[in-house]
Amino acid sequence: MESKCSCFFAVIFTIYITGVSSLTVIPSANPLAVGGNVTLTLNPHINISAGGWLLDGNILVFWYPGMFIVSDSYKGRVAFNTSTSQFSLYSVQVTDSGVYALQGMSPTVNAELRLSVQEPITNVSLTVSKTNLVEFNDSVTFTCSARGTALAFSWFNGSSQVTAANAQLISNGSGLIISNVSRYDSGPFSCYVVNGISNGTSKIISLDVSYGPSNLAMAINPNTMKYISGSNITLSCSCESKPAALFQWSYNGVSLNITSPTFQLSKATKNHTGAYACSAQNTVTFQYAIVTKLINIIDPIFSASVVPVGEPPIFNNSFALSCDIKGLVDSVYWIKDGIHLFSDSIHSLSNQNNTLTFNQLSLSDNGKYQCLASNAVSNMTSMAYSLLVNYGPWSTKISGPIIAEVGSNVTLNCSASSQPSSQYSWFFQGSKAGQGSVYQPDISSLNSSGEYTCLAYNNITKRNSSATWNLTVIVGISSVVVTPSTLIPLASRNMQLFCNVTGFFTSIQWLKDNQPLNTTVTRSIYMNDTSVDFHPLQIADDGFYQCVATNTFRSHSSQPYRLLVNYGPIDLTIAVDVKATIVLKCSAKSQPPSVYHWLFNNTVIKEDAMLVLNLMSPLGNNYTCVARNPLTNDTSFSSYVISERDAVASVQMSMLLTVMCALVHLVLMFMKPF
Ligand SMILES: *[C@@H]1O[C@H](CO)[C@@H](O)[C@H](O)[C@H]1NC(C)=O
Ligand SMILES: *[C@@H]1O[C@H](CO)[C@@H](O)[C@H](O)[C@H]1NC(C)=O
Ligand SMILES: *[C@@H]1O[C@H](CO)[C@@H](O)[C@H](O)[C@H]1NC(C)=O
Ligand SMILES: *[C@@H]1O[C@H](CO)[C@@H](O)[C@H](O)[C@H]1NC(C)=O
Ligand SMILES: *[C@@H]1O[C@H](CO)[C@@H](O)[C@H](O)[C@H]1NC(C)=O
Ligand SMILES: *[C@@H]1O[C@H](CO)[C@@H](O)[C@H](O)[C@H]1NC(C)=O
Ligand SMILES: *[C@@H]1O[C@H](CO)[C@@H](O)[C@H](O)[C@H]1NC(C)=O
Ligand SMILES: *[C@@H]1O[C@H](CO)[C@@H](O)[C@H](O)[C@H]1NC(C)=O
Ligand SMILES: *[C@@H]1O[C@H](CO)[C@@H](O)[C@H](O)[C@H]1NC(C)=O
Ligand SMILES: *[C@@H]1O[C@H](CO)[C@@H](O)[C@H](O)[C@H]1NC(C)=O
Ligand SMILES: *[C@@H]1O[C@H](CO)[C@@H](O)[C@H](O)[C@H]1NC(C)=O
Ligand SMILES: *[C@@H]1O[C@H](CO)[C@@H](O)[C@H](O)[C@H]1NC(C)=O
Repeated sequence: MESKCSCFFAVIFTIYITGVSSLTVIPSANPLAVGGNVTLTLNPHINISAGGWLLDGNILVFWYPGMFIVSDSYKGRVAFNTSTSQFSLYSVQVTDSGVYALQGMSPTVNAELRLSVQEPITNVSLTVSKTNLVEFNDSVTFTCSARGTALAFSWFNGSSQVTAANAQLISNGSGLIISNVSRYDSGPFSCYVVNGISNGTSKIISLDVSYGPSNLAMAINPNTMKYISGSNITLSCSCESKPAALFQWSYNGVSLNITSPTFQLSKATKNHTGAYACSAQNTVTFQYAIVTKLINIIDPIFSASVVPVGEPPIFNNSFALSCDIKGLVDSVYWIKDGIHLFSDSIHSLSNQNNTLTFNQLSLSDNGKYQCLASNAVSNMTSMAYSLLVNYGPWSTKISGPIIAEVGSNVTLNCSASSQPSSQYSWFFQGSKAGQGSVYQPDISSLNSSGEYTCLAYNNITKRNSSATWNLTVIVGISSVVVTPSTLIPLASRNMQLFCNVTGFFTSIQWLKDNQPLNTTVTRSIYMNDTSVDFHPLQIADDGFYQCVATNTFRSHSSQPYRLLVNYGPIDLTIAVDVKATIVLKCSAKSQPPSVYHWLFNNTVIKEDAMLVLNLMSPLGNNYTCVARNPLTNDTSFSSYVISERDAVASVQMSMLLTVMCALVHLVLMFMKPF
């Protein structure tokens, strides 16, 4: 029956498939839950006098003017309004889902609607393949299920939706596979199910994802490249790990049996230098990580001192100072007199040897040198080393007298510019004569004259230098005596005075009466080297003579020599004194003084200078006075004649009668003394 009708309408509808497609079917509800009622209405409303409602091509109801027929299997569940063409279905089942079509034959129209009848969602459940997972190692599968129809699934990790980009969805979304889970895949996961009429959310499931250790890091506090001994150094290890990692520390590959994440190197010493490793192990993932850091603990520099290298410092030689350092050193600086030294043409600095090298020492290199050594953790400045450049002997010279008297003390001084002071040796006539800068040669004889050599020797520079000195030794003046050529100097005769000098002299000077003897005054005196010639001797030459001999050192004066000139008698005079008597007094100049006698009638009447006559003496008497030099026996005479006037003036009258007589001198030299 049903199939008969269907065939019938199929033929009809096939013929009339033309359409007014602007018509739509409006359901009272779509989707709708099982057991509900639905009414399908044509929109816009038009009158269809003949047509049918079909579900998936099967006729539910059809009508034509005046009647409608409901398919048998829908009888009792269907209502149809012929005037409005509204179709209602009651107590719908899932099987009522499908394409509902109104097909009108008069007019010819067609409108369709897919109606969905759904069961509400219940019993949403979520299962997981396993919850204890290892990161990157494990995959997990979630399965979501629910009762209901037209189910759509979606997944949430916490509040964020899981999409196909993060995971793999299977079984129309009811299954979720996360391959190689990460630590961020721990959930909580849930599944949300929805259909047209209801929704449902599953319970939540959290995963336990074990991971790590990763990002293992070692922090060192304080953090520096090098540590000074005695530092307290804290090492801390950290990583990301679930479950918590087990730490193990090792030093240079040897386990330290320390399992805490932190430990301290207290008062670290140089011996603590090395590679510190922290290893972290995850007992679940079986992952293992290790981080290693080098810790360098350095002793501060204990001492620095400047020491000379090799030969002592000698002028013009090369020289080196070394900085002797106890401790590890990174760099060395040199300081001269407080000023930083740089390498130049004079100094070369070698950092490998910590050495300051002087290519060619000069005196300007003298000074105080220090080295400053530093390492990463300390520095130290040495004590000053005083550099004193050794040199010389230079400019060796002798000072002293060039001439000396036998027996005197002579001091020769030798000097040289030298550092250190030179040692001096003296040589005379080819052999060593003494040492020391001061030398007092023995000059007991004239043999000590000659060339003295001083040799200066510097025992550091090993150089020497010499100087010579010519010393002339002389015999000193020991006596100076004036010697006359004759013991009896006579006027008018030639005479010499000799200056007899014992010893060496350079000049002689004559003194007369303490005044220098002036030969220009007295024309008759001539001076030679050592003598004075009187040519002839004159009375005026009488006096005290000295000669003065002079050498380099002193003058020696002789004792005064009394030159007593013998002469006369000359200028004989007779003085007359007439009082009660006539007194004649005879006098003449003479040396030695003359002796006198009076002659009368060629007879000696008186041996005296004075002659006394009584007044009765006859006029005309001739008295002659004779003066005789007792040394030379030279004589001189004069006569006095008694005159009348003598008699007249014999009372209270005096008369001087001067008779000038020719004085006869005997020119012959050879007179016998008395
Ligand atoms: C469906 O229609 C029947 C008859 O009109 C009524 O008794 C029933 O309550 C309706 N059901 C619903 C869910 O509206
Ligand atoms: C789920 O259903 C409830 C009532 O059944 C409704 O209030 C809620 O809005 C629905 N949620 C979604 C996302 O549709
Ligand atoms: C290191 O620690 C010790 C005590 O553990 C302390 O006495 C010392 O002063 C510390 N040294 C430094 C440099 O802080
Ligand atoms: C490691 O230390 C523990 C206690 O801290 C001790 O019992 C154990 O013997 C030590 N192991 C080694 C190898 O020293
Ligand atoms: C460092 O090690 C050396 C030998 O390895 C030892 O002689 C010395 O005493 C140690 N010094 C310290 C401070 O531990
Ligand atoms: C270090 O010093 C030695 C002699 O003391 C010398 O032979 C050597 O060349 C020096 N090295 C450097 C790098 O200056
Ligand atoms: C040496 O050490 C002192 C303190 O330890 C520091 O002040 C100074 O700058 C250092 N000098 C140099 C040249 O490193
Ligand atoms: C020479 O020196 C000695 C001792 O030094 C001293 O006794 C003597 O008097 C000195 N002679 C002279 C002439 O100075
Ligand atoms: C060099 O001479 C001085 C004295 O002038 C002496 O004290 C020193 O010992 C000498 N040195 C050598 C190496 O001979
Ligand atoms: C010393 O005398 C000798 C010969 O008399 C001479 O050759 C030499 O130059 C003199 N020396 C000095 C320093 O005068
Ligand atoms: C003094 O010198 C002279 C001349 O040289 C000489 O003839 C005379 O004998 C010397 N007299 C004495 C005492 O030496
Ligand atoms: C010597 O006497 C003359 C004349 O009185 C005088 O001019 C001269 O300076 C004197 N000479 C000396 C060396 O005294």
